[in-house]
Amino acid sequence: MKAILFVFLLTNFVLSSYGANILGIFTSYSPSHNIIHMSEVDALIQKGHNVTVITALPLKQKNPKYHHVYIPPAPQVQKLLEDTMEQISNAKGLENMKIMVIMMKAMINLQYDIMFTDQFQNVIHGDTKYDLVLLGYVMNDFYLAAAYQMKVPVVVSWVNFPMSAVNTLVGNPNAISYVPHPMISNVQPMGFINRFKTFILSTFMYGVEKFMHYKLEQYYEEYKDIMKLSELPEYQELQRNISLVIGNSHFSDGVIRANVPAYVEVGGIQVKPEQNPLDNDLKEFLDNSSAQGAIFFSMGSNIKVSSLDPKVVEVFYNVLSKVNQNVVWKWEDPSNVPGNSKNIFYRNWLPQDDILAHKNVKLFVTHGGKGSIVESQYHGVPMIGLPVFGDQPGNAKLMVDDGYGLLLDYQTMSEEDFRNSIEEVLSNRTYTDNIQRFSKVYRDRPMSARDTAVYWIEYVMRHHGALHMQSPLVHSNIFVQYSLDVVGFLFLVIFIFVKIVKLCFSCAFKKRVCKTKVKKN
Ligand SMILES: *[C@@H]1O[C@H](CO)[C@@H](O)[C@H](O)[C@H]1NC(C)=O
Ligand SMILES: *[C@@H]1O[C@H](CO)[C@@H](O)[C@H](O)[C@H]1NC(C)=O
Ligand SMILES: *[C@@H]1O[C@H](CO)[C@@H](O)[C@H](O)[C@H]1NC(C)=O
Ligand SMILES: *[C@@H]1O[C@H](CO)[C@@H](O)[C@H](O)[C@H]1NC(C)=O
Repeated sequence: MKAILFVFLLTNFVLSSYGANILGIFTSYSPSHNIIHMSEVDALIQKGHNVTVITALPLKQKNPKYHHVYIPPAPQVQKLLEDTMEQISNAKGLENMKIMVIMMKAMINLQYDIMFTDQFQNVIHGDTKYDLVLLGYVMNDFYLAAAYQMKVPVVVSWVNFPMSAVNTLVGNPNAISYVPHPMISNVQPMGFINRFKTFILSTFMYGVEKFMHYKLEQYYEEYKDIMKLSELPEYQELQRNISLVIGNSHFSDGVIRANVPAYVEVGGIQVKPEQNPLDNDLKEFLDNSSAQGAIFFSMGSNIKVSSLDPKVVEVFYNVLSKVNQNVVWKWEDPSNVPGNSKNIFYRNWLPQDDILAHKNVKLFVTHGGKGSIVESQYHGVPMIGLPVFGDQPGNAKLMVDDGYGLLLDYQTMSEEDFRNSIEEVLSNRTYTDNIQRFSKVYRDRPMSARDTAVYWIEYVMRHHGALHMQSPLVHSNIFVQYSLDVVGFLFLVIFIFVKIVKLCFSCAFKKRVCKTKVKKN
């Protein structure tokens, strides 16, 4: 009996801890996206899965346990992207939009070209039989073709809040009547004005989304043609077959919405469960700051501070070199620093999460990338946002609305503005108290973000795509979604009913009219 039980437990154990072959396609040209996707990979590897990742960028954290297929873009594409990135950080208004469009097109083409490389084709046609594709989602739906060729379910890894384009994939309702558009507000409930703005902006974004999908469908059809894959179904059919989205947001961020079962929140997954020790000199510099505190200044992984307008850099340096605090500054070119002040420590690559976790760090001056803001929130460090482009202005504004810090326009701010803001955030306890209160709520979950991601990815594999938890909204159009057909039908019924009643009345009335006329005569 005992032996049987033992065998039973053993098989159960083996079945539940099998290592699956998982393919991560993370070809976004943004290192911050990869940080988030790779934390999911990290968690999967710890659970014993065999993960292969395809990226267009080199990976910072080397983990000998994953298999890396590195497909860098052609040098001229790299240069184009780096140039546009540099231009966008010094451009304003319409010019900024124009560069943004060029950049987006380059990013789509870059990812599309990867599909035709031998390296990519070798992975999808290789000997390894994969069980799942984890797709780092950023204007690259054509990769669904590859997943179809491999006959595996698709899980989308998404780095931000539930945006319309991502909601559509799994039928997650946009609920614009009570979920504010993040570029407008994150305060609920909304008044009429914000509901109006959300409605208009969402409708506009819906149009953009449709246009984008129209474009991406063209790429998909072209791939089908060139690779002679006539057996591939329609593009929409593949989109409707996505099993799960794991999104890097969490309800405790402040916006309450109803998510479908196939939308799982793993906000903050990039924050490591345990900190890595800091390098000796960095650790000593921060440990030494216990009396006066330290400021961490980083504009993220895309923007090179050294390539900003020299006047802006001068403002940064003149202020930061005179504050009482010590400053850790992410600066790319160590041979050409803005100045040698004793209180400033320059380094071209810094372990952001580990620095923010250091108890002496009192302020984070950031470009407002989603990942950076989340890490600061997790560790309870107030911020000054200096947003550059994309979602950064919106993220930074929400951060200010939440009371976690202040926002400045780095292109126009004076030294005095910058100095005053630093002093305000450091001396007024409100910002620190707010963000530390949030930090406690944010960490309080039944399962860590990593375990949540692993659980649901394994769930999809256990149930062969888990299409039983798909929202019917995936298969319905906008008329069905808002019951517009039912409302239309009701109007028709009422219309007909009114017509009939009117007809009867006028008949009855006419008869009386007729009778009186007869009598009179
Ligand atoms: C893990 O995946 C790689 C492909 O990247 C493959 O070569 C290797 O055989 C796999 N290992 C196992 C144990 O399946
Ligand atoms: C830290 O402080 C000690 C003692 O004041 C000093 O000797 C050392 O140079 C400082 N280290 C750094 C990195 O600033
Ligand atoms: C601190 O900041 C808050 C929020 O901006 C503000 O309401 C409050 O008046 C400030 N307190 C002081 C002492 O300046
Ligand atoms: C949909 O996904 C399932 C597994 O997730 C797969 O077996 C099936 O072939 C896919 N169908 C289409 C049309 O992509």
